[in-house]
Amino acid sequence: MTVSPVTGGGSVLITGAAGFIGFHLAQRLLALGDEVIGLDNLNSYYDVALKHERLRLLKTHTRFSFVQCDITDREGVQRIFEAHRPATVVNLAAQAGVRYSLENPAAYIQSNIVGFANILETCRKLEVEHLLYASSSSVYGGNTKVPFEETDPVDHPVSLYAATKRSNELMADTYAHLYGLPSTGLRFFTVYGPYGRPDMAYFAFATRYFAGKAIHVFNDGDAENDLSRDFTYVDDVIESIVRLMPILPRGPRPHEIFNIGGSTPAKLSVFVSTLEDALSASLGREVEFKKVYEGMKPGDVRATYANANRLESLIGYKPQTTLRVGLQAFTNWYVHYREVHGAESDPNEVTSG
Ligand SMILES: NC(=O)c1ccc[n+]([C@@H]2O[C@H](COP(=O)([O-])OP(=O)(O)OC[C@H]3O[C@@H](n4cnc5c(N)ncnc54)[C@H](O)[C@@H]3O)[C@@H](O)[C@H]2O)c1
Repeated sequence: MTVSPVTGGGSVLITGAAGFIGFHLAQRLLALGDEVIGLDNLNSYYDVALKHERLRLLKTHTRFSFVQCDITDREGVQRIFEAHRPATVVNLAAQAGVRYSLENPAAYIQSNIVGFANILETCRKLEVEHLLYASSSSVYGGNTKVPFEETDPVDHPVSLYAATKRSNELMADTYAHLYGLPSTGLRFFTVYGPYGRPDMAYFAFATRYFAGKAIHVFNDGDAENDLSRDFTYVDDVIESIVRLMPILPRGPRPHEIFNIGGSTPAKLSVFVSTLEDALSASLGREVEFKKVYEGMKPGDVRATYANANRLESLIGYKPQTTLRVGLQAFTNWYVHYREVHGAESDPNEVTSG
C-alpha cells in the first residue's frame, strides 16, 4: 500500500463526504493514496442528485468506501468507527447556511450540536489520532475590527448557525482539556468552486441566470457601503486541510483553530461582475444578470475578512486563487454540468446569499 504523506498509511473518515468540501477533500486524499471512508446522511437540504453525482465519482476509486449514516445516530456512528478504525477524522457534516438557521433552528441543533457531540465522544472512545472539524467565519459575528484574527473575541454570534459553530469550538476545546483529544478547528471563509453548494450566492446567481430570473443582491445597491467577503476557492481550502492533517496540536490542551481564508476580500458588486465575466467566457456570449437590490438580511454580516497569518506560519501556505480564476473554474464546470445533466438538473433554490 502507498504510504501517503498525509496520514502515513492510516485511513481517514470524512463526515459530509457527499457534500461540497467533503467531496473535494476525499478526491484529493484518494489521489494521494489514502484510504477514505465517506459518511453522509444524504439529506435533501439541496438537490440530492448533486450529492449522488459527487459520490458516483468518489466510488470510482477502490480505496473509497461509503456509509450512509446520520451523525445524530450515536450507535450508528460508533459502529462505523469500530468497523473502520480511522486514524484521522474530518467532520464536515453539518447543517450549513446562515439564513436557513432562521427558518429551521432545530436542524442546526441536531446535526451541529448533537451530531458533533457524538463525533467527539466516538473519537475519544476509539482514540482517534486527530480530529479536524469545520467551523466558520460566521463565528466573528458583527465584529468590526478587520481582518479577523483567531484571538479576537467571538462571544456574540448573529445567527444560530454561528452559535452552533462556536459551540463546536468550545466542545472540542473541552475534549482536548479533559481527554487530550487532538483537534483542529477550521474557520472557513465563503468557500466556492466546481461541484459547489446550490444555496450559496455564486451558484444561485448562475442558476437564476439560466432560468431567466433576476438575482437578489442584498447590499441596497450601495456600491460605497457594499458588503465584502473573503471568497475562498475550494482547492485552496483542501490544500490547507491536507497540510494541517499530519500536524497534531500538542500541549496540555491540544486544540488549535485556524482561519482558512485568503485575506483579499472582494465587494459583493465586484464579485457579481466577475461572475458575469466568467459566465460570459464559459458561454462565449455577453452575460448580464437582471438585478434586484435589497437590504441586508438578519444574520448577515457586513464584512468577513481573514487574517491568515496563523495558518501560513504553520503550513507555509494560505489561500491564493484569485476570484476571476476560481469563478472561471466554477462557471466552466457548471455550464458543462448543465449540458450533461440537462437544465432540469438546476437545483431547487434554498435561500441564497
Ligand atoms: N461552503 C462554505 O462556504 C462554508 C463556510 C463555512 C463553513 N462551512 C462548513 O463546512 C462544512 C462543509 O460545508 P459544505 O459547503 O461542503 O456543505 P454541504 O452541505 O455541501 O456538505 C455537508 C454534507 O453533510 C451532510 N450532512 C448534514 N447533516 C448531516 C448529518 N446529521 N449526518 C450526516 N451527514 C450530514 C449533508 O448531506 C452534506 O452532504 C459544514 O460544516 C459547513 O458548515 C462551509
